[in-house]
Amino acid sequence: MAAAMNISSPDLSRHLFHIARRSATRLQDCPEVIIPETCVPLPENRLFCQSSDNTGRRILELGSGWGEFLLQWLRMNPTDQLVAMEIKQDRIRRTLKKYRRDFVDQQRLRMIPINFGWFLNEILPPGAFDGIIINFPDPWPKRRHWKHRLVRPGFPGRMAALLRPGGWLHLATDYGPYARRMLHIMRSATEFHSMLTGPDYLRERPADFPPTYFEKIQKAAGYRPFYMQWALSESVSPD
Ligand SMILES: C[S@@+](CC[C@H](N)C(=O)[O-])C[C@H]1O[C@@H](n2cnc3c(N)ncnc32)[C@H](O)[C@@H]1O
Repeated sequence: MAAAMNISSPDLSRHLFHIARRSATRLQDCPEVIIPETCVPLPENRLFCQSSDNTGRRILELGSGWGEFLLQWLRMNPTDQLVAMEIKQDRIRRTLKKYRRDFVDQQRLRMIPINFGWFLNEILPPGAFDGIIINFPDPWPKRRHWKHRLVRPGFPGRMAALLRPGGWLHLATDYGPYARRMLHIMRSATEFHSMLTGPDYLRERPADFPPTYFEKIQKAAGYRPFYMQWALSESVSPD
C-alpha cells in the first residue's frame, strides 16, 4: 500500500510505481541517485556506505528542495550520512552539483527522486534511520487538499517504522494552521513524545539545525516558523 495516499489497489500501486520510476530514470546518470527497481525496501548497503568505525548517524530528509540545508548539515556533522527524497529533478541536480564540489570523494549522500506521498515505507528499510528531518513541507492550505499533506493521520506510525530505537523527528513549518495540525497529530501519537518542554514547539530554529532556503525566504517575508522535535517512544520497535 503506497504511503500517504492510502493506495489500496495493487494495480494502481504498480501503475504509480511505474510512473515514478520512469520519471526518475532521467537522473540515472547521477551515481548518488537511487532509483528503486521494485517496490520493496532498498537494502541498507545501497543507502549507506560502511564507515570504518560505524559511528555516523543515518539521517533521512524528506523534501530537500535546493539542498541548502542538507549540505550544511553534512558540513556540521562530518560523520553523518544522509538520504534525501525530493521529487523535483532540477533541485536534485543543483544539490548534487554543489555536493560534488564540496564533498569530493565522500559517499555520504544518496538521493531518491520518488514521490514520498506515493512510496515511502514501501521503499525505505524499517528501523534504518537515527533521525528524520522535514523542513517546510508543502502546507496544502485548502481542506480538500489535506489528503496530499505529508503530516496527516497515520504519519507518526509511518515515521516510527523508519527509525531506530532512540530515533527522532524534526518538523518545521511557517504555516500556523499546519503547525497546529502537526501538534494535534503528534501529541495524540503513542509512538512519539516531544523533546521540548512547554508548548512542544519553538519559534526560533534550534542552534544545531542550519537554516533552509525556504525558511530564509519566508522569514524575510515576515513569517515566524514553528519548529518541533519528537523522540521515538521506548516501547516502539521497528519489528
Ligand atoms: C516548500 S519546499 C521546502 C524545501 C526545503 N525543505 C526548504 O526548506 O528549503 C517543499 C519541497 O518538498 C518537495 N516535495 C513536495 N512534495 C513532495 C513529494 N510528495 N515527494 C517528494 N518531494 C516532495 C518539493 O519539491 C519541495 O522541494
